[in-house]
Amino acid sequence: MRHHGTVTSDPVTSTPGRPGPVAASDRDWWRSAVFYQVYPRSFADSGDDGVGDLGGVRERLDHLADLGVDALWICPVMRSPMADGGYDVADPRDIDPLFGGMAAMDALLAEAHARGIRVTMDLVPNHTSDRHPWFTAALAAPPGSPERARYIFRDGRGAAGELPPNNWPSIFGGPAWTRVTEPDGRPGQWYLHIFAPEQPDLNWDNPEVAADFAQTLRFWLDRGVDGFRIDVAHGMAKPDGLPDLAQVNTKMLIHDDSDPRFNNPGVHEIHRGIRKVLDEYPHAVAIGEVWVDDNILFGEYVRPDELHLAFNFRLAETPFEAAAVRESVEHSLAAVAEVGAPATWTLSNHDIEREVTRYGGGAVGLARARAMFLLELALPGPVFVYNGAELGLPNVDDLPDEVLQDPVWERSGHTERGRDGCRVPIPWEGQAPPFGFTRGRESWLPIPPEWAELTVAAQRRRPDSTLALYRSAIALRHERPEFAGEGLEWLPSAPGVVAFRREGGLVCALNTGAAPAELPAGEVLLASGPLTGAMLPPDSAVWLV
Ligand code: GLC
Repeated sequence: MRHHGTVTSDPVTSTPGRPGPVAASDRDWWRSAVFYQVYPRSFADSGDDGVGDLGGVRERLDHLADLGVDALWICPVMRSPMADGGYDVADPRDIDPLFGGMAAMDALLAEAHARGIRVTMDLVPNHTSDRHPWFTAALAAPPGSPERARYIFRDGRGAAGELPPNNWPSIFGGPAWTRVTEPDGRPGQWYLHIFAPEQPDLNWDNPEVAADFAQTLRFWLDRGVDGFRIDVAHGMAKPDGLPDLAQVNTKMLIHDDSDPRFNNPGVHEIHRGIRKVLDEYPHAVAIGEVWVDDNILFGEYVRPDELHLAFNFRLAETPFEAAAVRESVEHSLAAVAEVGAPATWTLSNHDIEREVTRYGGGAVGLARARAMFLLELALPGPVFVYNGAELGLPNVDDLPDEVLQDPVWERSGHTERGRDGCRVPIPWEGQAPPFGFTRGRESWLPIPPEWAELTVAAQRRRPDSTLALYRSAIALRHERPEFAGEGLEWLPSAPGVVAFRREGGLVCALNTGAAPAELPAGEVLLASGPLTGAMLPPDSAVWLV
């Protein structure tokens, strides 16, 4: 563990100990790490173009060190035309100039490591950008060529091939196939894109694809990166013959275990190949984005020779209701129990409505989000904090139509607004937008003026702020022996309350009911809001030892 300071009994003024530099010898650092997800466009802009960049992350490392996080997950920063915020990669082994180029990445790695913060990158193996040189070459080459065999090209159905090869929809709306114009000018084959047309799916049956990805992994690991978040890690293998969907759900961004586009058995061989490369770098971690519900099928992704960790979205999908929260935790633990990997915990990310809003918004939504954070952080295993969650930011659901950038907005014919509402830039300081986010006049998505109260600077001044709660909670989790061990036991509790004890002795109770509940026995270490005597008020959580 990298923190060595003492936590005072006053949870508000306690600060994490000064971390030392990252030590390569600490191999299993990720088993209980607090990861902080940086959505780089929205975190901090070191220039004046209104778009966040890696220089901005570097300038704000103090905030992250203060918060006490162990590692960063940086959403894609590789070269990209930005059709999907960087998840459309044109060169996986270079940093986009928008984010500051390679020099900015090297500088961030060095400075983060000097502060004891590890850096993991987001890689996108399922697809490339349509501007990737491979795709350009595929369009210029004839059907059946080796260039086309790196992607999933098929002839169309119908007499003249005018219909898509199957009925799959794209996750972002419209069909998952686009017809190309052949080099001779005639309408020709179709290519598969599970996401936007600018994101053609790679053909992982082609060994060239795996070899190139291994090269990308080594490229970044050799530069000092500590691991990767693997985008759409349940998606790379496609079913034989690309069969039609039995039922086409036109709702976007939906995940369903019976969907043949995802979670095909061949995906595990791909992860074994990735793990072989990572095993050459024993400190490194691979975390898969795995939208799979079934416990057994989910657990398969984190068998000892596959990914180290997989994102578990159960808490993010669970309502603020004690029985549902308990069930969600039980399933999360059960899913990995047999394979030896820790469960992971996530309340939000750049694809999901922010938790304050999900739990009802306003003061109640915020109180519940704070309570859920204490519950999450009390659980054994790594926790992922999405930038801005530590400020209690809500979703911004009234962004003007003309600023929306998520491809979902266009692809749905303006019926679904997409994910921009959870990607509004971080307010750092000052009284008016852009709140120190950029040196320019405007941020790429406008920041609501009422976030003046939510800025980092404003919250640093308030001992009862959400930021202060996050700092205290993370510090305690690092320092206190009561967080030891990976097991937990459920404690008897009143209806509307969920309570458990960690192996090391920490007790956590969450009250989702309408009435105050009795506190479990023990000394209060931290509470998500004011306690009333020996009672735990509704919409709050407490830690005791
Ligand atoms: C993942 C990312 C999401 C992206 C998609 C396509 O789900 O989290 O933001 O749009 O993959 O790469």
